Amino acid sequence: MNIAAVDYDGLIPNNVALGQDERVKRALEKWHPGYINWWNDMGPEGFQESLVYLRTAVSVDPKGWAKFDYVRMPEYRWGVLLAPAHEGRTIHFGRHKGEPAWQDVPGEYRAMLRRLIVIQGDTEPASVEQQRHLGKTAPSLYDMRNLFQVNVEEGRHLWAMVYLLQKYFGTDGREEAEALLQRRSGDADTPRMLGAFNEKTPDWLSFFMFTFFTDRDGKMQLEALAQSGFDPLSRTCRFMLTEEAHHMFVGETGVTRVIQRTCEAMKEAGITDPNEIEKVRKLGVIDLPTIQKKANLHFSLTLDLFGNEISTNAANAFHAGIKGRYREDRLKDDHQLEGTTYPVLRLVDGKIQNVETPALSALNMRLRDDYVVDCNAGVGRWNKVIESFGIPFQIKLPNVAFHRHIGEFSSIKAGVDGNLLSDAEWAKRRNDYLPSDSDKDFIESLMQPQFEPNKFASWISAPKVGIDNKPGEFEYVKIA
Ligand SMILES: [Fe+2]
Ligand SMILES: [Fe+2]
Repeated sequence: MNIAAVDYDGLIPNNVALGQDERVKRALEKWHPGYINWWNDMGPEGFQESLVYLRTAVSVDPKGWAKFDYVRMPEYRWGVLLAPAHEGRTIHFGRHKGEPAWQDVPGEYRAMLRRLIVIQGDTEPASVEQQRHLGKTAPSLYDMRNLFQVNVEEGRHLWAMVYLLQKYFGTDGREEAEALLQRRSGDADTPRMLGAFNEKTPDWLSFFMFTFFTDRDGKMQLEALAQSGFDPLSRTCRFMLTEEAHHMFVGETGVTRVIQRTCEAMKEAGITDPNEIEKVRKLGVIDLPTIQKKANLHFSLTLDLFGNEISTNAANAFHAGIKGRYREDRLKDDHQLEGTTYPVLRLVDGKIQNVETPALSALNMRLRDDYVVDCNAGVGRWNKVIESFGIPFQIKLPNVAFHRHIGEFSSIKAGVDGNLLSDAEWAKRRNDYLPSDSDKDFIESLMQPQFEPNKFASWISAPKVGIDNKPGEFEYVKIA
């Protein structure tokens, strides 16, 4: 079978030979109406009849895997696509290092694998739910299209995880697949599994921050799972990563364009002090200190997704060969980590300091460290834009102890520099660090839709290049 070719004939496009797998095919076809109901209830609000210029995965060949065309979102072909198998792939970390990768679920790791797949799966529909109301305030048709692209692909990522559940986990898998359609982001009774996926995405700056910071957590988790000794999971995640890159592109360039517009407006108005917030806001753009506060919020919420710094679950998953480190295959050590240590930031005697910790227990911390490095590279590119205007301001990631709800620092209050604060000091300074109600009101006041081709809301500049090399005046969404 040519793995790069996708079978588009049936209800569910796939490159996993569903046609020869009656049981799984039927299970997925049974799940399909529930998924469509979920999409109609919880997917993008409005615009379901509109024609959106979307890319659809039609192959897993890295050189040309997507095609672009106008599609109504409910008619998007959500498919099951795995990256090509690597002939003779072996497990390259943990206690099974060197053994052939598993093509089926090893009984002893069944529960652990199911849990990881369900947690990953749960984040995919959650973000669609969080973003569902944003279409109506889109700052341009270009941005609206990008939002919907991200949304349909998160939907496909849900399919990716549901395929694994239905194919490899029998009745339990089927029940988990159902439950993934039942939970709802932010719901008091049936919330999504992870905190950041129950927060609101109230406006477009939050959307860009979310796709920059939180989709990047997704990237880190997928990179770690792509290392898995369970080969179908590895191949699924490898293909998801191709799509994920666009989500982070949307976030990074989105924030860049907001910054760009702010700096341009400041320059035109002759404002050199970034802290002249009221003056800057009168220009209809978002002042840099408020952009910083949004970054503080989304960065800190996302750090919580990495879980406890010291974690037996993470150690067990690594030891078992189920979840590796970020780009494990490129690391140069014994890939077993017995007897080695890793520095973990901890609270010791009221001070934040590094403590050497058994490396196996510190894997969450390590993945989070890799994540922070990756974030910083993007933040550096934002700062280049500000610098090019000669404005004395730099976006900075807050200290990892800032505004945490999970792990080592959840019990304390810290400022953005990692300085410990009393509850009273925190209460006094909170609005310097995080968006205040009046910041939120201001941003909301800017969220005026701009649905004419090649026009952009006051607070964001045009992109440098179009999607699929389309010219500026291209109508990315034909609103119906
Ligand atoms: Fe995703
Ligand atoms: Fe994503």
